Amino acid sequence: MTAAGLRWSVAPTGLGYGADYYPEQWEKSTWLEDIELMHRAGVNYVSLGVFAWSWLEPEPGRFHFDTFDEIMDLLGAHDISVGLGTATSSPPAWLVCRHPEMRPVDDSGRVLEFGGRQSWCPSSPVYREFSLRLVEAVAEHYRDHPALALWHVSNELGCHNARCYCETSAVAFRRWLRNRYGTLDELNRAWATAFWSQRYTDWFEVQPPRLAPTFPNPTSQLDFARFSDDELRSQLLAERDLLRRITPGVPVTTNFMVGATKNMNYLAWGPDVDVVSNDHYLVEGLAEPEVELAMSADLTRGVARGRSWMLMEQSTSAVNWGTVNRAKRPGEMWRNSLSQVSRGAEVIAYFQWRASSAGAEKFHSAMVPHAGESTRVFEEVVAQGELLARLDQVIGSRSQNSVAFLVDYEAWWAGELDSHPSQNFRYRDEAMRWYAAFWRVGIGVDLVGVDADLSGYSLVIVPTLYLTTDATAAAVDRFVSVGGTALVTYFSGIVDESDHVRLGGYPGAFRDMLGIRTQEFLPLRPGQTVDLSDGSTASVWTEDCVATSAETVLSYASSQIAGRVAVSRNNHRHGHAWYVSCALGPETVDALVQRITAELGIQPVAHTSDGVEVVRRISRDNHTLTFVINHRDEERTVTGLGGMDVLTDETIGSPVVLRPGQTLVVRS
Ligand code: GLA
Repeated sequence: MTAAGLRWSVAPTGLGYGADYYPEQWEKSTWLEDIELMHRAGVNYVSLGVFAWSWLEPEPGRFHFDTFDEIMDLLGAHDISVGLGTATSSPPAWLVCRHPEMRPVDDSGRVLEFGGRQSWCPSSPVYREFSLRLVEAVAEHYRDHPALALWHVSNELGCHNARCYCETSAVAFRRWLRNRYGTLDELNRAWATAFWSQRYTDWFEVQPPRLAPTFPNPTSQLDFARFSDDELRSQLLAERDLLRRITPGVPVTTNFMVGATKNMNYLAWGPDVDVVSNDHYLVEGLAEPEVELAMSADLTRGVARGRSWMLMEQSTSAVNWGTVNRAKRPGEMWRNSLSQVSRGAEVIAYFQWRASSAGAEKFHSAMVPHAGESTRVFEEVVAQGELLARLDQVIGSRSQNSVAFLVDYEAWWAGELDSHPSQNFRYRDEAMRWYAAFWRVGIGVDLVGVDADLSGYSLVIVPTLYLTTDATAAAVDRFVSVGGTALVTYFSGIVDESDHVRLGGYPGAFRDMLGIRTQEFLPLRPGQTVDLSDGSTASVWTEDCVATSAETVLSYASSQIAGRVAVSRNNHRHGHAWYVSCALGPETVDALVQRITAELGIQPVAHTSDGVEVVRRISRDNHTLTFVINHRDEERTVTGLGGMDVLTDETIGSPVVLRPGQTLVVRS
């Protein structure tokens, strides 16, 4: 069976709603209460068995399925679809102790012992062998179970063990490098080993970039990031292929951590799975965590190549792994969920169903808190179930945006390496600086990989794409040449895929298209600013940049670069190419985004003011679904809406005054 949106073998009715479920932590009497509470909350999906290896295989080769058989039957009998874990994420003590060589090692040679989770080296053949044996046993055992809706491979691959520097990894890294470069001469060229006497004369001399007296070779660091990503990905592929062989009709997913980590190249991993899933936890310390949530959700849709996806984990309230863990405000859980739905999520799920009474995550919030069902959180969980049940028509809907952001993990890896002009540059922050302006004005954007087809977009934002391949530079140039508008921000187009600088003036890959030339970077210290010609200021980064053919839109007004280009606009063939050579303040970014989108005739979804999120989707029957979320504790007015609010069946006109925290899904 397949819902119009996500692929399932047993589709839940309506949007999916549920959690990670760990019944093995509880007595059987609790399971029955769980089922009753799940029904009350409208839960129709759970992830099961995610950390059950030592339960399923208590000793080498002896499998024990009785407990999970009972649970699977119970869930199936109550119409709760199961995403069944392959349980490989956390290997049991018997395996790690018998094969200590599989423990991960950090860059300074410290062994990461058993006792937490994910104590496995991604390149370990022992781990691979034992994990696949488990996957095979689980898949054979549950292949025909009627509750099996989806396979959930591992758990957050690379969450704690993304980079391993052990000897096994070193051997695998050398193999990977031979494959990439063929010869040592080629590796010496790519790694520029003429520098600091780093020339290699035999493969055995090549090491992972372990802790060294000073900066390890940057290209070796970049290649190690690529290699580590490939090693983890190969575990996903090995499990997936085995599952596909045994149960070809059951879709495969694994939970990504898009937005939270740069270690895995999820834009490349997306097509590996049948269903893209993401875990998202609010980032503490941000003034507007909902903007980061939205950006991560939009990037997840990019990873899913525009298709629907699952929100596999979030928290109902506080997490337990921060320094001070904030409980969510009343209504915040629902607003977070609705934002994810508006950006393509067709399952809203949580870590976890019932708060554990013991263990390292006992203070992490859950759908059923320690205090039980008579709680604000559980009441909100039930209310959310009722609201999600009204949103069937979101299934199979799509977004339709005119603006794309180019995102590239290799640029992220390379751009944040050490020994750069500034260590205060953060790729994600720069992308978010521009993303936030579109969020604020209510214009939807797609976050896509550098290999995406840009032809359907009017505007492409290229935030700090430090590493730019010839192919990417050509694709952006082509997009502009035929009439598109691109906006490129500082520290873009600087190096090629080997991290070698493109000479002749920055940004080498885009210099001609942009009609500017930078001869020197002038990064700023924290708190330091430079005045701009419109009275605003720049922070983080400035450049000694001159226009060669571009028009200067904003210039620096103080410091040694007074008069130089801060923002420029170039006519390039049939299109326009903007350059921003510094980190601009939010008002200036807003003004530029509004000017450029107005010039291109790109309209906001609705007109609103500060703190209101508006997102549009197109339903399968070609109606417009406009999601409106008031994140503030104050009233807000929105104009430009008209239709029926699917959440309440009320008619919505324009203007509409939103109550504090109110949400709408307006169909028109
Ligand atoms: C991750 C993991 C879960 C749990 C949560 C806690 O997302 O996948 O097992 O540890 O974090 O926030």
